Amino acid sequence: MKKTVLVMHGPNLSALGRRRPDIYGTLTLPALDGLIKKRAEELGLAVKCFQANGEGELIDWLEKNSPRAHALLINPAAYTHYSYALRDAVEACALPAAEVHLSDISKREPFRRISVIKPVCLRQFKGKGELSYIEALEFLAGLIKGTEG
Ligand code: DQA
Repeated sequence: MKKTVLVMHGPNLSALGRRRPDIYGTLTLPALDGLIKKRAEELGLAVKCFQANGEGELIDWLEKNSPRAHALLINPAAYTHYSYALRDAVEACALPAAEVHLSDISKREPFRRISVIKPVCLRQFKGKGELSYIEALEFLAGLIKGTEG
């Protein structure tokens, strides 16, 4: 059985490709998910991708899907900066987690420099566009490869 990585995209990432292409690039969300799935296949992993704009939808999905998954890759989008609810959900799911950002949040507006999600993730990947996701997936693959369950 392949190990499963949950891939979660937070609010407004549904508008990728149209939204601030100067910052986030021109790749759409389905195209990004396609790249992630392709790399996951090469790594021998299964991925389950989900995007929602609502905090509750993201938390419900994580709670429902985490018991059968092995790792979590999450771009919490704007929730990164203030959602203690999402932070607690990531902690509660107890999966090895990687936080991802297309842009370099450390070099943007001051409010973006804070991540309340970072302390419950093993690593943060940022500033490399879609490559941030690929590097995070490779990191998680290395972690869960050869583990039990
Ligand atoms: C983002 C950065 C966040 O500050 C922003 O709210 C996003 C996208 C990124 O991927 O660079 O929606 O998470």
